[in-house]
Amino acid sequence: MPSERKRDEEKEKEGKKVTSKDKEKEKEKEKEKEKEKEKDRKRDGAVAGAMGKQRMLHPGNVLMERYEVQGLIGGGGFAQIYLAVDNTSKQNCAIKIEPTSSDIRRMKLESAVLLVLRGKTGVPEIKAMGKAPLGHYIVMQLVGRNLSDLRRQLPNKKISSRTLYRAMLQVARTLSLAHGAGFLHRDLKPSNCCVGFVDVTRIYLIDFGLTRQYLDKGDMVRKPRVGVGMRGTLRYMSLDAHARKDLGANNDLVAFLYTTIELGDGSLPWTRTRSADDIIKLKQAYVNEKLCAKQPKLTKLAEYIESLNYYSIPDYDKIFSLLEECNPTDLREDECYDWQKHTCVMDHSVQKEASTELSERGDTALIKK
Ligand SMILES: Nc1ncnc2c1ncn2[C@@H]1O[C@H](COP(=O)(O)OP(=O)(O)O)[C@@H](O)[C@H]1O
Ligand SMILES: [Mg+2]
Repeated sequence: MPSERKRDEEKEKEGKKVTSKDKEKEKEKEKEKEKEKEKDRKRDGAVAGAMGKQRMLHPGNVLMERYEVQGLIGGGGFAQIYLAVDNTSKQNCAIKIEPTSSDIRRMKLESAVLLVLRGKTGVPEIKAMGKAPLGHYIVMQLVGRNLSDLRRQLPNKKISSRTLYRAMLQVARTLSLAHGAGFLHRDLKPSNCCVGFVDVTRIYLIDFGLTRQYLDKGDMVRKPRVGVGMRGTLRYMSLDAHARKDLGANNDLVAFLYTTIELGDGSLPWTRTRSADDIIKLKQAYVNEKLCAKQPKLTKLAEYIESLNYYSIPDYDKIFSLLEECNPTDLREDECYDWQKHTCVMDHSVQKEASTELSERGDTALIKK
């Protein structure tokens, strides 16, 4: 290693002897550093959680005599996502499958939301649902890479202000459609926002696996339940979710804000914090202008979201215009997005073989009863 040689030379210049013990110690230190880096990489979710688990589908499997599996492209806490080809239309599609052992209500709710929101901008189109020997699945429109993956590929691992607010405005619009239809997302985060597979300037909101119907038949906000299970992902969940309160539209917006801060700053103040109690303390300490210190234009939006409560019906038009105000004034409408300006891998990495890698990701959803 050149750095090692340099160090030896420097030590020799200083008249110090470089012993083999010194070298061994250094090597140990390097190894430890590497291990730490690897842990961080896994924690940050660079390796999809499903990659090391048993595959529920295999390349060549054909579902419904139509959808031919190509390989695994993703996975989070519960599901595995496969790339497939629709042999009838010859188009690509995605299959999301969850083991039969997991709670079927989650898939049912997810498909219910996708059906209600079918054809709406920013929602992948649901094509079919079914049951394979190992799991229940949904066949849906294939989308592109998620914003968590894309951020990591950009310079300084940040999405620039020339891209971020245009992208998040699209997410906000789709979220408002879901809320309007009576559904909360409850797991909004960078890995649940994806660019389009064909049009990479379009952003899709995916993964309605933790959704909840929060409006009743008369479009009234349902009464909050007490002592509910914890829903969401530690890093992005609101303080209400930490407190196991029933969640409202305002809590999706808190997750939306944390997502925007992370994508623009490259991290959140609690990114490296493990314990939930410490995360809570940091979330309490970092609000409004302190949270938005590196993106001060977001402060107004942060203050507005902070002012909402469980029963509030958010003023989405206000949210859209506050986001638009964050755009640089010289931004052209047709300007490329960061992932078009820089060389980013946009295709899915299709895993055909089972990998033995097991991982733990810091941004995986959790459900605690
Ligand atoms: N329709 C899709 N097209 C392409 N990739 C997808 C699609 N749905 C999900 N993915 C990828 O798989 C990952 C996990 O999918 P997701 O639905 O979020 O599952 P989980 O509920 O396990 O988090 C996403 O972050 C995304 O990168
Ligand atoms: Mg997800």
